Amino acid sequence: KSWARTLSARSTNPSPRPISTATLQPLTNFVPPSAAGQTGTALMAQQLLSSRSRLLSASAIDRSYLADHALSISDPDAYWSEIAANNYHWEKSFDASTVLKYNFHASKGPIHIEWFKGGKTNISYNVVDRWAEDTPEKTALIFEGNDPSETASYTFKELKAKVFRVANVLKAKGVKKGDRVALYLPMTVDLPISMLACARIGAVHSVVFGGFSSDALAARIKDSGSKVLITADGVGRGEKVINLKSIADTAMDSLGAEDQVETCLVLERLNEEQLKDNPTASHRDPSRDVDFAAACAAVSDDCPVTWMDAEDPLFILYTSGSTGTPKGVLHTTGGYMVYSGETFRNVFDYKGAPSDIFWCTADCGWITGHSYLAYGPLLSGCTSIVFEGVPNYPDASRFWSTVERHKVTQFYTAPTALRALMREGDEPVKKHDLSSLRILGTVGEPINPAAWDWYNEIVGKGNCPIVDTWWQTETGGHMLTPLPNKWPLKPGSATLPFYGVAPALIDPSSEEELEGNDVHGHLCMKQPWPGMARSLWNNHERFEEVYFSQFDGYYCTGDGAQRDEDGYFWVTGRVDDVLIVSGHNIGTAEVESSFVGHGDVAEAAVVGFPHEVKGEAIYCYVTLNQGVEGSEDLRWELKKKVAEELGAFCRPDVVHFTPALPKTRSGKIMRRILRKIADPSETDKLLAGDLECLGDISTLADEAIVHDLVEGLREPC
Ligand code: WTA
Repeated sequence: KSWARTLSARSTNPSPRPISTATLQPLTNFVPPSAAGQTGTALMAQQLLSSRSRLLSASAIDRSYLADHALSISDPDAYWSEIAANNYHWEKSFDASTVLKYNFHASKGPIHIEWFKGGKTNISYNVVDRWAEDTPEKTALIFEGNDPSETASYTFKELKAKVFRVANVLKAKGVKKGDRVALYLPMTVDLPISMLACARIGAVHSVVFGGFSSDALAARIKDSGSKVLITADGVGRGEKVINLKSIADTAMDSLGAEDQVETCLVLERLNEEQLKDNPTASHRDPSRDVDFAAACAAVSDDCPVTWMDAEDPLFILYTSGSTGTPKGVLHTTGGYMVYSGETFRNVFDYKGAPSDIFWCTADCGWITGHSYLAYGPLLSGCTSIVFEGVPNYPDASRFWSTVERHKVTQFYTAPTALRALMREGDEPVKKHDLSSLRILGTVGEPINPAAWDWYNEIVGKGNCPIVDTWWQTETGGHMLTPLPNKWPLKPGSATLPFYGVAPALIDPSSEEELEGNDVHGHLCMKQPWPGMARSLWNNHERFEEVYFSQFDGYYCTGDGAQRDEDGYFWVTGRVDDVLIVSGHNIGTAEVESSFVGHGDVAEAAVVGFPHEVKGEAIYCYVTLNQGVEGSEDLRWELKKKVAEELGAFCRPDVVHFTPALPKTRSGKIMRRILRKIADPSETDKLLAGDLECLGDISTLADEAIVHDLVEGLREPC
């Protein structure tokens, strides 16, 4: 059958009453960011919630959405089996009468989630073979290098040959179904190709973001038990060169005999000049290291597919938690495939037009790159751009010149990038022809009204619906999101649930679900959707503990949210100790443990504070050992330590030395107080002696510490 014709029958249903573009405009006038111009999750949430919108008339929401959503919740088996059967190849069909089996109640036994179990398929086959047969000459991937003069494109036919070769190299190195393969690569097409190669032979990929440090890489190789690593000698990122091989060498050298990487495939990406400046990037260990390109050239470009059960593992992706080591979020084959494809087509309004060029700027090291650079678009046969560079190189018009050159139709990025670019003014945008753009998307953190308006007016010229997509590594795909032209948008709201998503807001004190609209609580999910994580790698107990122990019968997201009068959702930020810095999750516990690993540090407490570009930034309170003086050098050393141990994107912004931390009589650190003192919008008041914003401090064991902390604000940190 021709997949291009059958694809997503449901998502191409004509809407009975299309909403005019006029109703796509914001319904509200937002309070502009405060005088200080701060954004940050808390402040943003406050602004968003204080700017209540007019009530929508119920008829503003597309009726076919309401009907389909209701069906997807009441009869998930019927709803998802139709989509799965129509849009994907199954070598052996799943049983349509028992598509979903699950238990969300920790009180009733182990948590388990199964979709399409017994069905046999392969996600890589559904990307590669299917489209190589149907639309062989269509462009699958467009590569846009760090250097804008370097671009290339690959058809589905070419993609197939490349994937098959990498799969054969992995097989030759002994990789079998179920084995884990770690990928620590720059954003070249080799990254999605390697992911697809793993999936073809049933290997489980574990992509580690190229900005992570050697310690972080080593921990992920060890935890996943990866015996093969695919990396590169290095990569140019903006003006800088990142010496990936030497980071990988340090990581591999730090692993014990049992955890050793047996084969390290090395992609040669650096040019002669870059290599001259980074001699360690050329280091090879002949017993372990293999030239990736040469190995690919030496094998056949034909490779049989390994059929997988729908519930066989597909990939592991690590994400920070509020405590302990990063969690290896485990996704399986069938449900993830159906969900990443279906969300892609609906949210980005992809109906198979050959002229659609989709660009997701995220790195494949994050879930956004997995679901909406690699799998979602390619499963749907859509052209996807792989961008190696950064938004401000060679200049602030990089995104827009790239959109113009490749005639990008759907563009998906993070609010933090938009905020950084906004500061460069409108000129870099306006000098480019962006008329190809149709849909704009954001992900990773709440988008503040000023950035939303700028995106809408300056980039989208008021013509492109903005899909503010709320989701998580654990959810596999979009959860709360606008669907273009199906209902009016409100800037800052991820609006309504996707098909199959049943959100609930729970009052943390009563543990009761909050009914009706105009309520605020912990955002939870009442039933599984196909793309959800099934477990944490090798640690199902932790999976149950983190996501299901808080409210029996619910998947707990860790975010707080408001449901407004119209039933629209406004995600207000984390309710745990995870920071979202430039859209990246960072566990405060991980940063704290890096600090206390320094010989001079007695104790550390890390909180977030509102930051104009990053959304949230890292503020660290540090107490030093007896006799150690806090100095500028020590502050620098500590920041460097965290950056080296966790990755440069985790570098703290502020290190505040303090003689002690504010604690309750039972010894609990009062983070609420620390957050207020870290918030720049409170500094003037605090320094003037007005401590009201700190709330009740009488529960502190020693109230005087508050004055020391406030006095500390006078020091530069
Ligand atoms: C936050 C990224 C508000 C949220 C796909 C979530 C958002 C965490 C949004 C997951 C959004 C993501 N609005 N907050 N549109 N999107 N978040 O696992 O706190 O890297 O829990 O997945 O990012 O981050 P993760």
